[in-house]
Amino acid sequence: RDDKNMVITPPVVTIMGHVDHGKTSLLDVIRKTKVAAGEAGGITQHIGAYQVEVNDKKITFLDTPGHEAFTAMRARGAQVAHVAIIVVAADDGVMPQTREAIDHARAAKMPIIIALNKIDRPNANPDRVKQQLVENDVLIEEYGGDIICVPISAKKGEGIDELLDYILLVAELQDLKANPNLPATGVIIEAKLEKSSGPSATVLVQQGTLKMGDNIVVGPISGKVRAMFNDRGKRVQKAPPSTPVSIMGLPEVPQAGDHLEVLEDEKTARQQAQKELEQRRGETNNLGQVSLDTLYTQMQEGTVKELNVVLKSDVQGSAEAIKGSLSKLGEENLKVRLIREGIGNVSETDVHLAAASGAIVIAFNVKPDGAALREAQKEGVDIRYYNIIYKLIDDIQAALTGMLE
Ligand code: GTP
Ligand code: MG
Ligand code: NA
Repeated sequence: RDDKNMVITPPVVTIMGHVDHGKTSLLDVIRKTKVAAGEAGGITQHIGAYQVEVNDKKITFLDTPGHEAFTAMRARGAQVAHVAIIVVAADDGVMPQTREAIDHARAAKMPIIIALNKIDRPNANPDRVKQQLVENDVLIEEYGGDIICVPISAKKGEGIDELLDYILLVAELQDLKANPNLPATGVIIEAKLEKSSGPSATVLVQQGTLKMGDNIVVGPISGKVRAMFNDRGKRVQKAPPSTPVSIMGLPEVPQAGDHLEVLEDEKTARQQAQKELEQRRGETNNLGQVSLDTLYTQMQEGTVKELNVVLKSDVQGSAEAIKGSLSKLGEENLKVRLIREGIGNVSETDVHLAAASGAIVIAFNVKPDGAALREAQKEGVDIRYYNIIYKLIDDIQAALTGMLE
């Protein structure tokens, strides 16, 4: 570690908490935007990554969803952040995903700041919430502990400056440093297939500086940074540590949570990706073999009924949340079986596969292309469209219940 090259880097702050407690609204008031108002079903379904400047100091925020389906995203947010803001609504109090958020922050050994939100509500009861926090081992200052609890109203913009000051204070105590002169390393926060421009990935740069033209490898995929945009959609040439950027130039949609590395040349990047691909193939083959065999035996014995599903979605994070929720549905002898999944529009191949296995096609925030639609009509394949995860899950649960009857 070459100390003369180390510079202070902005803190990465993850905002976590129970569904609808006001995480996105808090970021909206900090950023002077209106993201929350435009969300389908009023719930956040991705990790959002933003950077703001407070008194000439930068802070990077990760907005995570509070709905129970998104545990993996909250865990990912906690893994890459330096500070956790846990938003608790003063009327609703400590709820299951509040506890989960506290656990994620603790597991990641991160300092916690409590934002006690919605204090403008007539039925707000800050004292009761503080009591609940203490009961959950969150020892806030008033109770002799060292965890800061800031009463705020995202709606009225109250307590926000104080909260930001505390974030900077907590970050300063951590003495966060990185070397911007190294080749970049980072982590994929979210990834999707853009309709016109292909795969795009939001990267949080952790060390070094990511630059245009860099040869990169992300898990089993290698490519080159061909375009880079900041959180406001503005083209940038480079991204120093703690900066979130969306990049183009990967040939496929990478997996959220995978690490990004810059390598010296294209060939080395390709070789490293190939090695990773072979390793992952080995792992899935082993897993697939076991579960298919067991499944086959059970089906011979007539003990398992299944609802076959082809899942196509727009972004990795949603796909992962949907898969997680689907796997919990049903009962021991009645399960959802994912026969194909992918990012992007529903294709003719998806429909063929669904027809062959009697599956339904779930299209989450995507459409079928023309050929797929014609094929679906011809084969009588059911394509169901969703843009809200819990509605999708409710429907599939209802379908499973129907199969039992
Ligand atoms: P998820 O991401 O879906 O978990 O929700 P969230 O925690 O991001 O909450 P969101 O910002 O979507 O806010 C949920 C609802 O609470 C919205 O209707 C907001 O307008 C409202 N809300 C947020 N903050 C406040 C506040 O300080 N006071 C009041 N009265 N309402 C608020
Ligand atoms: Mg939200
Ligand atoms: Na919400």
